[in-house]
Amino acid sequence: MHSGAMTSWSLSWSGWRAHPLRERLLAQRMLALYRAGRQADALDAYQDTRRILIDQLGIEPGREVRELHQAMVEQDPRLDLRGERQTIAPSGDGRGTAVLVGRERELAGMAGALEDVIGGHGRLFLLSGEPGIGKSRLAEELARHARNRGALVVVGRCWEAGGAPAFWPWVQSLRSYVRACDLDDLVGELGPGAAEIAPILPELYELIPGLLQPTAPESEGARFRLFHAIAEFLRRASERRSLVLILDDLHAGDAPSLLLLRFLARELDSMHVLLVAAMRDVDPIPGEALTEMLAEVVREPATRRASLAGLTQADVAEYVQLVAAEIASPALTSTLYAETEGNPLFLTESVRLLALEGVPPEVSRHAEPRDPADRPGRDLPPTRPPVLGMY
Ligand SMILES: Nc1ncnc2c1ncn2[C@@H]1O[C@H](COP(=O)(O)OP(=O)(O)OP(=O)(O)O)[C@@H](O)[C@H]1O
Ligand SMILES: [Mg+2]
Repeated sequence: MHSGAMTSWSLSWSGWRAHPLRERLLAQRMLALYRAGRQADALDAYQDTRRILIDQLGIEPGREVRELHQAMVEQDPRLDLRGERQTIAPSGDGRGTAVLVGRERELAGMAGALEDVIGGHGRLFLLSGEPGIGKSRLAEELARHARNRGALVVVGRCWEAGGAPAFWPWVQSLRSYVRACDLDDLVGELGPGAAEIAPILPELYELIPGLLQPTAPESEGARFRLFHAIAEFLRRASERRSLVLILDDLHAGDAPSLLLLRFLARELDSMHVLLVAAMRDVDPIPGEALTEMLAEVVREPATRRASLAGLTQADVAEYVQLVAAEIASPALTSTLYAETEGNPLFLTESVRLLALEGVPPEVSRHAEPRDPADRPGRDLPPTRPPVLGMY
């Protein structure tokens, strides 16, 4: 876990003043934690380091880091990302956002699940891991692959700040489907269940005149009918072409949404539907509804899962080479790998900063190749796909 790693990282940091890269990496790490919604961890990272500096060197952190700390305490809105970090959006504008390194095993697992789905055996794919580990990015990559395989991909994200209506991630994804669909097809696919689904997708009342309101929509019976209607809708809709529904940030999902996922996990095997559920498995610790849902769905034969760990050192080398070749070096790779533990969010933010500001000379000096075999990227395994074409 990162908080533990952060402490050892800070403790070994006695030469801090003489190492401006580390000060900047601390700032970057604080920023990445803060932007991942981990304000307390960001502030802890600062306090750990400050205590060590005062104890060992009798000095305070530098002005830049102190100001950053103050801004975090005040939750300064300037610290928020504005459209920089993308979550299942088309990637590509920012430096490095279109790049994906590593994750071959997970992608193969997801691609395999997609092939099962195309063959008529629906799957639920659970993607879990700590903040910033790359769940959304992987889901985005699967979405791209699935579109190339002719599937229709829709996305729903849970709303973490609270106040979203029940079934929010389902509402978003089904709404995208409804918008993408021809009305006649839609009416046929909804079938008699349209009236049950309309309370959560009110646009159906406009699209399909004469739709009756269900009686006692809050009752358990109505909820069961809603679940059944959605299952039948997905079954029919996916007969035309395979459907991929990505439900992101499910750790923040409302209880009814999780129940619906449980219900569908049992029905999936006979549909051309891939449900991808991405969620943090720490921070926040999964709540009761999520834990119950997971315990239930992992027993279903349609369920597959991947728990994401940090990128490998070879992945880190590859990432730097791809997005900032001018600063790539074995020494920088090892520093970044050690400091970020392969967390892609920390890695991408750190590389962005270093590419902008330059790598401090003490790191670059270690990097000067003494031997041609010492060139950047030499630590990549020889089996790496040649598509990168640069090693
Ligand atoms: N394998 C990878 N290669 C390159 N960049 C990556 C990789 N995985 C993730 N990233 C980048 O790292 C950042 C964090 O990834 P992402 O948003 O997918 O994390 P997450 O696990 O969804 O985090 P959260 O729990 O906060 O939603 C993004 O900018 C993403 O583009
Ligand atoms: Mg995410």
